[in-house]
Amino acid sequence: MQLKYSVRGAELSDLYKIMVLYRAIAARSGGIARQADEITEAHVRNFIERCHEKGIILVIEDPSNPETLIAEVHTCSPGIRVFSHLFSDLTIAVHPDYQGKGIGSLLFRTLLQEIESKHPEIIRVELVAKESNQKAIRFYKKFGFRAEGRLEKRISGKTGELEADIPMAWVRQEQGPPF
Ligand SMILES: CC(C)(COP(=O)(O)OP(=O)(O)OC[C@H]1O[C@@H](n2cnc3c(N)ncnc32)[C@H](O)[C@@H]1OP(=O)(O)O)[C@@H](O)C(=O)NCCC(=O)NCCS
Repeated sequence: MQLKYSVRGAELSDLYKIMVLYRAIAARSGGIARQADEITEAHVRNFIERCHEKGIILVIEDPSNPETLIAEVHTCSPGIRVFSHLFSDLTIAVHPDYQGKGIGSLLFRTLLQEIESKHPEIIRVELVAKESNQKAIRFYKKFGFRAEGRLEKRISGKTGELEADIPMAWVRQEQGPPF
């Protein structure tokens, strides 16, 4: 992994840069649930604000053009007391031109280390990946996440066919920090 990439917390002022990143991913490589025209300002503002309230949101800038973001990850609390020990809705996205270079791993490792060091109350981190996104599923397993089932015909693919979503979680007591 090149040392030139560095991870920082996202600010509300990153809103439009995150929109641009997510739209590029939705249009070119897929993997995230929303299509490009569904990545609205309201949606991005909502998850930035929720993560600032209780959660984590991290980004990596393009070292040759810091105005552009090449990767983002976020996860946050569902916001009610019975779920105060978990972070959910985890999404990670690396720009298509930068995938497969270790950038996602750098970002995800940093996220998990931050949960370890700053959020001892978080026992469980959860996400959902569609079954055909084996790249992402392998990626999450590498970091200690486990598949917890199969949500049959939950999500529609590019051509409208329905496919399964795979709920996955990292549970602190089960395995300890894998990173
Ligand atoms: C999934 C994603 C975050 C991985 O980030 P990345 O920077 O491409 O991944 P890395 O280069 O750090 O690779 C880490 C692991 O991912 C998997 N991986 C990466 N590229 C892969 C490829 N082309 N094929 C299969 N697995 C791959 C491997 O498990 C790899 O482990 P290894 O380094 O031991 O081989 C990124 O590809 C992405 O943003 N995809 C589009 C959005 C998406 O699918 N998000 C997840 C939604 S659930």
